[in-house]
Amino acid sequence: MCLLVVCLGSPYLVGHKCIPPVPGLDNGPNIVTAKTLNDHLNWRYATKKMDASKTVPQDKVNAIIEAVRLAPTSSGTQPFELIVVTNPEIRAQISEAAMGQAQITDGSHLLVFAAWDTYTEDRIDAVTQLNVAARGDLPLIHGYYDNLKANYLPREAEVNYAHAARQAYIALGIALVAAAEQEVDSTPMEGFSSDAVDSILGLRERGLRSVVLMPLGYREEAGDWLLPMPKVRKSRESMVTEVA
Ligand SMILES: Cc1cc2nc3c(=O)[nH]c(=O)nc-3n(C[C@H](O)[C@H](O)[C@H](O)COP(=O)(O)O)c2cc1C
Repeated sequence: MCLLVVCLGSPYLVGHKCIPPVPGLDNGPNIVTAKTLNDHLNWRYATKKMDASKTVPQDKVNAIIEAVRLAPTSSGTQPFELIVVTNPEIRAQISEAAMGQAQITDGSHLLVFAAWDTYTEDRIDAVTQLNVAARGDLPLIHGYYDNLKANYLPREAEVNYAHAARQAYIALGIALVAAAEQEVDSTPMEGFSSDAVDSILGLRERGLRSVVLMPLGYREEAGDWLLPMPKVRKSRESMVTEVA
Protein backbone atom coordinates (compact mmCIF):
# COMPACT_ATOMS: atom_id res chain seq x y z
CA MET A 1 0.00 0.00 0.00
CA CYS A 2 1.22 3.51 -0.76
CA LEU A 3 1.24 5.84 2.23
CA LEU A 4 0.94 9.49 1.35
CA VAL A 5 1.75 11.62 4.32
CA VAL A 6 0.61 15.20 4.74
CA CYS A 7 2.42 17.25 7.36
CA LEU A 8 0.54 19.96 9.16
CA GLY A 9 2.04 23.44 8.56
CA SER A 10 5.06 23.61 6.32
CA PRO A 11 7.37 20.86 7.52
CA TYR A 12 7.94 17.78 5.46
CA LEU A 13 7.79 14.29 6.80
CA VAL A 14 10.83 12.06 6.48
CA GLY A 15 10.55 8.65 8.06
CA HIS A 16 8.40 9.54 11.03
CA LYS A 17 9.98 12.90 11.82
CA CYS A 18 8.80 16.26 10.47
CA ILE A 19 11.65 18.44 9.17
CA PRO A 20 11.48 22.08 8.03
CA PRO A 21 11.59 22.90 4.29
CA VAL A 22 14.95 23.94 2.83
CA PRO A 23 15.06 27.78 2.38
CA GLY A 24 15.54 28.94 -1.20
CA LEU A 25 14.42 25.65 -2.72
CA ASP A 26 11.09 24.94 -4.29
CA ASN A 27 9.87 22.53 -1.69
CA GLY A 28 6.86 21.60 -3.78
CA PRO A 29 3.40 20.96 -2.45
CA ASN A 30 2.97 20.12 1.20
CA ILE A 31 2.67 16.43 0.41
CA VAL A 32 5.61 14.13 0.76
CA THR A 33 6.60 10.79 -0.55
CA ALA A 34 5.59 7.47 0.93
CA LYS A 35 7.83 5.92 3.54
CA THR A 36 10.30 3.45 2.12
CA LEU A 37 10.38 -0.16 3.21
CA ASN A 38 13.51 0.57 5.23
CA ASP A 39 11.75 3.47 6.99
CA HIS A 40 9.16 0.94 8.16
CA LEU A 41 11.88 -1.51 9.22
CA ASN A 42 13.60 1.19 11.23
CA TRP A 43 10.32 2.20 12.88
CA ARG A 44 9.42 -1.29 14.02
CA TYR A 45 11.01 -2.99 16.98
CA ALA A 46 10.25 -6.03 19.09
CA THR A 47 7.86 -4.18 21.37
CA LYS A 48 8.27 -5.04 25.04
CA LYS A 49 5.34 -3.09 26.47
CA MET A 50 2.00 -2.75 24.70
CA ASP A 51 -0.73 -0.26 25.68
CA ALA A 52 -3.53 -2.47 26.99
CA SER A 53 -6.12 0.26 26.38
CA LYS A 54 -5.65 0.23 22.60
CA THR A 55 -7.13 -2.16 20.03
CA VAL A 56 -5.77 -2.67 16.54
CA PRO A 57 -8.58 -1.89 14.05
CA GLN A 58 -9.89 -4.83 12.06
CA ASP A 59 -8.89 -3.36 8.68
CA LYS A 60 -5.25 -3.26 9.82
CA VAL A 61 -5.43 -6.82 11.16
CA ASN A 62 -6.95 -7.87 7.83
CA ALA A 63 -4.07 -6.26 5.90
CA ILE A 64 -1.55 -8.19 8.02
CA ILE A 65 -3.47 -11.46 7.58
CA GLU A 66 -3.63 -10.90 3.83
CA ALA A 67 0.15 -10.43 3.73
CA VAL A 68 0.52 -13.79 5.52
CA ARG A 69 -1.79 -15.40 2.94
CA LEU A 70 0.32 -13.93 0.12
CA ALA A 71 3.66 -15.07 1.56
CA PRO A 72 5.61 -17.33 -0.79
CA THR A 73 6.25 -20.92 0.30
CA SER A 74 8.24 -23.83 -1.09
CA SER A 75 6.24 -25.43 -3.94
CA GLY A 76 3.32 -23.18 -2.93
CA THR A 77 2.14 -25.66 -0.31
CA GLN A 78 1.47 -22.99 2.36
CA PRO A 79 2.04 -25.70 4.99
CA PHE A 80 0.85 -23.73 8.00
CA GLU A 81 -2.23 -22.07 9.38
CA LEU A 82 -2.65 -18.79 11.18
CA ILE A 83 -4.63 -18.72 14.41
CA VAL A 84 -5.81 -15.22 15.36
CA VAL A 85 -6.56 -15.11 19.07
CA THR A 86 -8.45 -12.20 20.61
CA ASN A 87 -10.09 -14.10 23.50
CA PRO A 88 -8.56 -12.58 26.67
CA GLU A 89 -8.68 -15.80 28.75
CA ILE A 90 -6.98 -17.84 26.03
CA ARG A 91 -4.34 -15.13 25.61
CA ALA A 92 -3.76 -15.14 29.38
CA GLN A 93 -3.15 -18.91 29.25
CA ILE A 94 -0.78 -18.51 26.30
CA SER A 95 1.08 -15.69 28.07
CA GLU A 96 1.60 -18.04 31.02
CA ALA A 97 3.07 -20.60 28.59
CA ALA A 98 5.35 -17.84 27.28
CA MET A 99 7.15 -16.94 30.49
CA GLY A 100 4.50 -14.36 31.32
CA GLN A 101 5.33 -12.16 28.32
CA ALA A 102 2.72 -9.44 28.74
CA GLN A 103 2.61 -8.27 25.13
CA ILE A 104 0.35 -11.29 24.55
CA THR A 105 -2.29 -9.95 26.91
CA ASP A 106 -1.63 -6.20 26.58
CA GLY A 107 -1.85 -6.32 22.80
CA SER A 108 -5.28 -6.78 21.24
CA HIS A 109 -4.56 -9.69 18.88
CA LEU A 110 -2.23 -12.66 19.00
CA LEU A 111 -1.13 -14.35 15.78
CA VAL A 112 -0.07 -17.98 16.20
CA PHE A 113 1.78 -19.48 13.24
CA ALA A 114 1.05 -23.23 13.32
CA ALA A 115 2.83 -25.51 10.86
CA TRP A 116 1.69 -28.86 9.50
CA ASP A 117 3.04 -31.67 11.66
CA THR A 118 4.03 -33.48 8.44
CA TYR A 119 3.24 -33.61 4.73
CA THR A 120 0.52 -36.11 3.78
CA GLU A 121 -0.96 -37.32 0.53
CA ASP A 122 -4.24 -35.53 1.29
CA ARG A 123 -2.52 -32.25 2.05
CA ILE A 124 -0.46 -32.27 -1.14
CA ASP A 125 -3.46 -33.42 -3.19
CA ALA A 126 -5.41 -30.42 -1.87
CA VAL A 127 -2.59 -28.12 -3.05
CA THR A 128 -2.65 -29.87 -6.44
CA GLN A 129 -6.41 -29.26 -6.72
CA LEU A 130 -5.97 -25.60 -5.82
CA ASN A 131 -3.45 -25.27 -8.65
CA VAL A 132 -5.70 -27.13 -11.09
CA ALA A 133 -8.66 -24.92 -10.18
CA ALA A 134 -6.64 -21.76 -10.79
CA ARG A 135 -4.50 -22.81 -13.76
CA GLY A 136 -6.29 -25.73 -15.44
CA ASP A 137 -5.95 -29.51 -15.36
CA LEU A 138 -2.40 -29.51 -16.73
CA PRO A 139 -0.21 -32.64 -16.75
CA LEU A 140 2.64 -30.39 -15.65
CA ILE A 141 0.85 -29.66 -12.36
CA HIS A 142 0.13 -33.33 -11.64
CA GLY A 143 3.69 -34.30 -12.56
CA TYR A 144 5.13 -31.67 -10.26
CA TYR A 145 3.11 -32.61 -7.20
CA ASP A 146 3.44 -36.38 -7.82
CA ASN A 147 7.17 -35.82 -7.72
CA LEU A 148 6.83 -33.76 -4.53
CA LYS A 149 4.84 -36.56 -2.86
CA ALA A 150 7.49 -39.11 -3.91
CA ASN A 151 10.09 -36.93 -2.16
CA TYR A 152 8.21 -35.77 0.94
CA LEU A 153 5.94 -38.65 1.98
CA PRO A 154 8.71 -41.17 2.81
CA ARG A 155 10.52 -38.65 5.05
CA GLU A 156 10.37 -38.57 8.85
CA ALA A 157 7.48 -36.45 10.16
CA GLU A 158 10.00 -34.34 12.08
CA VAL A 159 11.90 -33.47 8.88
CA ASN A 160 8.65 -32.50 7.17
CA TYR A 161 7.54 -30.46 10.17
CA ALA A 162 10.89 -28.60 10.22
CA HIS A 163 10.46 -27.81 6.52
CA ALA A 164 6.87 -26.62 7.08
CA ALA A 165 7.98 -24.48 10.04
CA ARG A 166 10.56 -22.75 7.84
CA GLN A 167 7.74 -21.73 5.52
CA ALA A 168 5.85 -20.31 8.51
CA TYR A 169 8.91 -18.18 9.34
CA ILE A 170 8.81 -16.63 5.86
CA ALA A 171 5.22 -15.60 6.58
CA LEU A 172 6.25 -14.29 10.01
CA GLY A 173 8.83 -12.01 8.36
CA ILE A 174 6.27 -10.70 5.93
CA ALA A 175 3.73 -10.21 8.73
CA LEU A 176 6.29 -8.16 10.69
CA VAL A 177 6.78 -5.89 7.69
CA ALA A 178 3.02 -5.67 7.04
CA ALA A 179 2.38 -4.70 10.66
CA ALA A 180 5.03 -1.98 10.43
CA GLU A 181 3.45 -0.67 7.24
CA GLN A 182 0.14 -0.44 9.12
CA GLU A 183 1.97 1.32 11.99
CA VAL A 184 0.92 -1.52 14.25
CA ASP A 185 3.42 -2.73 16.82
CA SER A 186 4.33 -6.38 17.15
CA THR A 187 6.75 -8.78 18.81
CA PRO A 188 8.04 -11.93 17.13
CA MET A 189 8.17 -14.59 19.86
CA GLU A 190 9.83 -17.97 20.14
CA GLY A 191 10.00 -17.80 23.92
CA PHE A 192 7.08 -20.10 24.68
CA SER A 193 6.31 -23.77 25.25
CA SER A 194 4.93 -25.05 21.97
CA ASP A 195 3.55 -28.16 23.68
CA ALA A 196 1.53 -25.96 26.05
CA VAL A 197 0.28 -23.67 23.26
CA ASP A 198 -0.62 -26.71 21.12
CA SER A 199 -2.67 -28.04 24.00
CA ILE A 200 -4.38 -24.69 24.79
CA LEU A 201 -5.43 -24.28 21.15
CA GLY A 202 -6.04 -27.96 20.37
CA LEU A 203 -3.52 -27.84 17.51
CA ARG A 204 -2.13 -31.40 17.59
CA GLU A 205 -5.62 -32.82 16.97
CA ARG A 206 -5.67 -30.76 13.79
CA GLY A 207 -2.24 -31.98 12.66
CA LEU A 208 -0.64 -28.63 13.53
CA ARG A 209 2.20 -27.49 15.80
CA SER A 210 2.74 -23.94 17.03
CA VAL A 211 5.95 -22.45 15.62
CA VAL A 212 6.10 -18.78 16.51
CA LEU A 213 3.85 -16.11 18.05
CA MET A 214 3.24 -12.51 17.09
CA PRO A 215 1.19 -10.26 19.37
CA LEU A 216 -0.20 -7.11 17.74
CA GLY A 217 -0.93 -3.88 19.57
CA TYR A 218 0.38 -0.42 20.22
CA ARG A 219 3.57 0.43 22.09
CA GLU A 220 3.22 2.02 25.52
CA GLU A 221 5.78 4.74 24.97
CA ALA A 222 6.43 5.61 28.62
CA GLY A 223 6.61 2.00 29.81
CA ASP A 224 8.76 0.35 27.17
CA TRP A 225 12.44 0.18 28.21
CA LEU A 226 13.48 -0.82 24.68
CA LEU A 227 11.87 2.06 22.78
CA PRO A 228 14.54 4.73 23.54
CA MET A 229 17.40 2.39 22.69
CA PRO A 230 19.04 2.48 19.27
CA LYS A 231 18.61 -0.45 16.92
CA VAL A 232 21.52 -2.90 17.03
CA ARG A 233 22.56 -4.40 13.72
CA LYS A 234 25.83 -5.76 12.33
CA SER A 235 27.59 -3.63 9.74
CA ARG A 236 27.06 -4.42 6.09
CA GLU A 237 30.78 -5.25 5.76
CA SER A 238 30.63 -7.82 8.52
CA MET A 239 27.73 -9.77 7.04
CA VAL A 240 27.74 -9.26 3.28
CA THR A 241 30.26 -10.91 0.97
CA GLU A 242 30.14 -9.65 -2.59
CA VAL A 243 31.34 -12.04 -5.25
CA ALA A 244 31.70 -9.96 -8.42
C1 LIG B 1 12.06 -15.67 15.63
C2 LIG B 1 12.17 -14.61 16.69
C3 LIG B 1 11.88 -14.93 18.01
C4 LIG B 1 11.91 -13.94 19.01
N1 LIG B 1 11.47 -14.23 20.28
C5 LIG B 1 11.29 -13.20 21.15
C6 LIG B 1 10.61 -13.39 22.38
O1 LIG B 1 10.18 -14.49 22.72
N2 LIG B 1 10.42 -12.31 23.17
C7 LIG B 1 10.84 -11.07 22.83
O2 LIG B 1 10.61 -10.11 23.60
N3 LIG B 1 11.52 -10.85 21.68
C8 LIG B 1 11.72 -11.88 20.83
N4 LIG B 1 12.34 -11.66 19.62
C9 LIG B 1 12.80 -10.29 19.31
C10 LIG B 1 14.31 -10.20 18.99
O3 LIG B 1 15.06 -10.24 20.16
C11 LIG B 1 14.49 -8.91 18.19
O4 LIG B 1 13.75 -9.01 17.00
C12 LIG B 1 15.96 -8.65 17.86
O5 LIG B 1 16.71 -8.41 19.01
C13 LIG B 1 16.09 -7.46 16.91
O6 LIG B 1 15.52 -6.30 17.47
P1 LIG B 1 14.28 -5.52 16.84
O7 LIG B 1 13.27 -6.55 16.38
O8 LIG B 1 13.76 -4.70 17.98
O9 LIG B 1 14.78 -4.70 15.70
C14 LIG B 1 12.33 -12.63 18.65
C15 LIG B 1 12.64 -12.34 17.32
C16 LIG B 1 12.55 -13.30 16.36
C17 LIG B 1 12.83 -12.91 14.91
